[in-house]
This record gives sequence, structure tokens and C-alpha cells, in this order.
Amino acid sequence: MDSFRAFRVHSGEDRKTRAQLDTITLDDLSEGNVVVRVGWSDVNYKDALAATGTSRIMRRLPMVAGIDLAGVVETSDDEAFPAGSAVAVVGAGLSEDHDGGYTEYARVRSDQLVRLPDHVSGRDAMAIGTAGFTAALALLRMEENHQTPADGPVLVNGATGGVGSIAIDIFSARGYEVVALTGKAESSDYLRSLGASQVLVRGELEMGARPLERGSYAGGVDNLGGDVLSWMLRSTKPGGNVAAIGLAASTELNTSVMPFIIRGVNLLGINSVIMPSVRRQAVWDRIGTDFMPRHLDKIISQEVALADLQGVFDAYIDGTMTGRTVVRIGGG
Ligand SMILES: NC(=O)c1ccc[n+]([C@@H]2O[C@H](COP(=O)([O-])OP(=O)(O)OC[C@H]3O[C@@H](n4cnc5c(N)ncnc54)[C@H](OP(=O)(O)O)[C@@H]3O)[C@@H](O)[C@H]2O)c1
Repeated sequence: MDSFRAFRVHSGEDRKTRAQLDTITLDDLSEGNVVVRVGWSDVNYKDALAATGTSRIMRRLPMVAGIDLAGVVETSDDEAFPAGSAVAVVGAGLSEDHDGGYTEYARVRSDQLVRLPDHVSGRDAMAIGTAGFTAALALLRMEENHQTPADGPVLVNGATGGVGSIAIDIFSARGYEVVALTGKAESSDYLRSLGASQVLVRGELEMGARPLERGSYAGGVDNLGGDVLSWMLRSTKPGGNVAAIGLAASTELNTSVMPFIIRGVNLLGINSVIMPSVRRQAVWDRIGTDFMPRHLDKIISQEVALADLQGVFDAYIDGTMTGRTVVRIGGG
């Protein structure tokens, strides 16, 4: 491949950024010992932040956007990933300090790669992507901290988003009663079809202001931060686990120590980027078996081509997006 297409973010005027489809060569990409022919990528909230310049995600510009990719190894000097292997890079620093996945060819380090489990296709892997990987990591962390379905219901907020949708799917598949909290009242049927047994609407929620509210939930998955996370901590039963994943509403968290010292509630920080590669592969191996989402067909709400990326990001920033976007690059 002499030259190929990649969607890159550049410096623009007035300290703004500009994203566009460029023609580049391998020498334009970050260093790496494995070249991947990219079949699929996806769109996450962080991709929208980077591509629109809403937040500084990329540490240098220009940079190829896209935090995830799936494809087939083209060339490699690592015998663990020979040419022809089906691989993915998910949440491993792409589009932050390493060129990302919105490209026909990527050059990555083998410590960023995972082998795709046998029956997970590249398209499935990108329907899952960082969002699903992070939901799976939250489930793993909560269960390592002794969460079980018998403890009671788990609340998932930002429910129609990528992390939220896949969390509902995989928690319910494991036997958890899942309560979905959404801003979109009209999405109740969608959320129930993924496995939610109850749907709460954010605008109708009475959050109270006491240091401890009634302990209604045995645990939670938080994509929002701010007041909702504070309320979840005050509403969690003794010993429950709340996984803090996102900041879609706020980076703030105001809480007293009461949930922690009176109820022994655990606030688990979830980071999908910084992780040893052995742990990363272990999470993917669980995704390939008992953590596999059952409803990816419903969760994939759109499939776009590399050339159509420009139009997809605003819905993520506005919070109007439902489900997951997969990006078809080489396909396969
Ligand atoms: N820690 C990590 O490693 C990690 C990994 C992946 C993602 N994240 C973070 O997790 C969050 C979710 O990611 P995602 O990919 O699922 O994003 P997404 O697909 O854009 O979904 C976010 C969802 O949050 C809700 N929401 C959006 N804006 C909101 C606002 N201003 N106030 C209240 N609710 C709002 C909406 O759901 P409803 O309308 O249903 O409420 C939206 O669909 C993001 O903050 C992302 O940066 C973190």
C-alpha cells in the first residue's frame, strides 16, 4: 500500500481544530511493530470530543482520529500476532498519543493489540468497542468486589448510550436485575428489549438531598458524573459497588463520606486505557464467552463509511445519540 485514506484532526484557526479525510502513507503514522489492514472502527463519546475539538483528547496534531480499530495483521515482527491474525485495538491510547483507527492501514505496537476471540467478528468487535469493553470491565471489577445478582438491582445511567446499552445487555444476561436511567422517555421499549426490567426518566427523578437516601440499588454503572452519581452513591445498599465510568453530564462529584463509612459503599474507578495487555486480553476473552452482548443487532443504530464520518459526531455531543455507530473501512 503506497498511500491510503485516513480521517485526521488538524490545528485550525483561533486555536480551533479541523477534521478531514487525508491521503497519507505509513511514514505519516505513529511508530509500531505491527501494520493492520483496518476493517472496522466505531464512534465513542471520546471520538466526538476529539473530532469536534470540544475537548483536547489528542496530545499532538495532526493525528488520525478513532480510539478503536479491528482488522487483520498485514505485517508484523511479533510471532504472537502473525500476518493474517484477526486483531483489535480498543482503548489503548489510540487518538491520544498514537494515531487512531479511522484509517485504511494502522501501525501499532503489539502491546496495544488483542486477539479477537474466535466467534467475534471485526464488526462485532467494533459494535462493542471501547464502550462495551468498558462496560465489561465494570462488570468484572464489580464481581471481583463480590457483586452478585442476588444482592439486588443494578442501576445503569446514560442508558441509551454505547456504554449504557451494552452494560444493560451484559449485566442482564448474567442474571442481574437492571434498572435503566435515561434522559429519553421515548426509549423505554429499546431499553427493555436489551434486558432492563425498569426504566426511569432523568427529568422525573426525585433525587433528594439527604446524606443517605433509601438504599434501593445493590450497585450501579455511572456514565454521567455530577448530581446523578452523587444520588446513586446515597441510594446504594450496604456493601454495593458503583462503577464510575463517564462524565457525560459533569466532571464534578459532590458527596459526603456517609455512603462510604455508614454503608461501606465502594466507588470503583474504571479506566479502559491504562491497563496491562494481559488484563486487556483477559477482558476480551470474557467478552468472547460469558460477557458477550446478546443484542448487538439492536444496539448498532448506524453503519457509516470513512467518508461519511464528519456528520456523525454532533449527536454524541448533544446527548441525542442512541446505541452504537460502526464505521466500515475495509469491511470483512
Ligand atoms: N472510563 C473510561 O475508560 C471510559 C470508557 C468509555 C467511555 N467513557 C465515558 O463514558 C461516558 C459514556 O460513553 P459512551 O461512549 O457510552 O457515550 P454516548 O454513546 O455518547 O452515551 C452517553 C449517554 O449519556 C447520556 N447523556 C449525554 N449527555 C448528557 C448530559 N449532558 N446530561 C445527562 N446525560 C447525558 C445520554 O444517555 P441517556 O439519554 O439515555 O441518558 C447519552 O446517550 C462518556 O462520558 C465517556 O467519555 C469512559
